[in-house]
Amino acid sequence: MIVKTEAATDAAYWSRRAWFEAHAAGAGAQPVPVDYLDEEHAVWAAVVPALHERWERLAVPEVLDAARSVELPHDRVPQLDEVTERLTSTGFRFEAVAGLVPVDTFFGALADRRFLSTQYLRHPSSPLYTEEPDVVHEVVGHGTLLADSGLASLHVAAGEAILRCDEPAARQFVADVFWFSVEFGVVRASDGTTRAWGAGVLSSVAELDHLERVTVRPIDIDEMGGQAYRIDQVQPVLFGAESLTHAIDVVGTFFEAATNENVLRRLQAQRPSAVA
Ligand SMILES: [Fe+2]
Repeated sequence: MIVKTEAATDAAYWSRRAWFEAHAAGAGAQPVPVDYLDEEHAVWAAVVPALHERWERLAVPEVLDAARSVELPHDRVPQLDEVTERLTSTGFRFEAVAGLVPVDTFFGALADRRFLSTQYLRHPSSPLYTEEPDVVHEVVGHGTLLADSGLASLHVAAGEAILRCDEPAARQFVADVFWFSVEFGVVRASDGTTRAWGAGVLSSVAELDHLERVTVRPIDIDEMGGQAYRIDQVQPVLFGAESLTHAIDVVGTFFEAATNENVLRRLQAQRPSAVA
């Protein structure tokens, strides 16, 4: 049974979040549809058009093509099964999880072309910002990327890399490269502008609005794997490729070849104290 909330009070919001947690079908299962509340559709309708408006100026052309191909609704929260139906070209499936899942569960699913997604919405008092990966981030960010065959393959390659790299330091390095590429990847366009392709930038109005002021370093696997970051603030430093093709080439080649041995060798060369 769905408990309908009358007002977006904190108590009502967190009660609803608890409902989402209990309702998630989990990895490997078909998502159970959610009867979204009017106020949840309103959050989606506030943030998604604001993102798309910015994408016209600030996203790489391939993302705009992917968005046109996946055609996600702007005025209501889609069901995860509906997202899956829109991704037949790349064969990715969306499955519902309660929240953060263990790293090997999340990346193991990517290797199997399954995306483990939350279904809840961010708090309605701040529709344009969230630290947590809510359904806007998962569906509008990753769901759009997963309509592009090159970016879908990059998600798969990242999943396979994490499964191969089970040494904690190597796994963290691969996860950090994922953070600065699939989540926060940008391109330095020939006209000097910065354009986004990472799901974390594309799904955040705050990140997009900050893009012109961010420090963009040249894409470099060793620097990406060694760069500290915080998840609770706008990213001050990002890594830019010359084009999305260039980014997929550099990062995909790294993911495809990553093993405990060669990643630990990189770490040893970069930070001798990081590897015992
Ligand atoms: Fe993400």
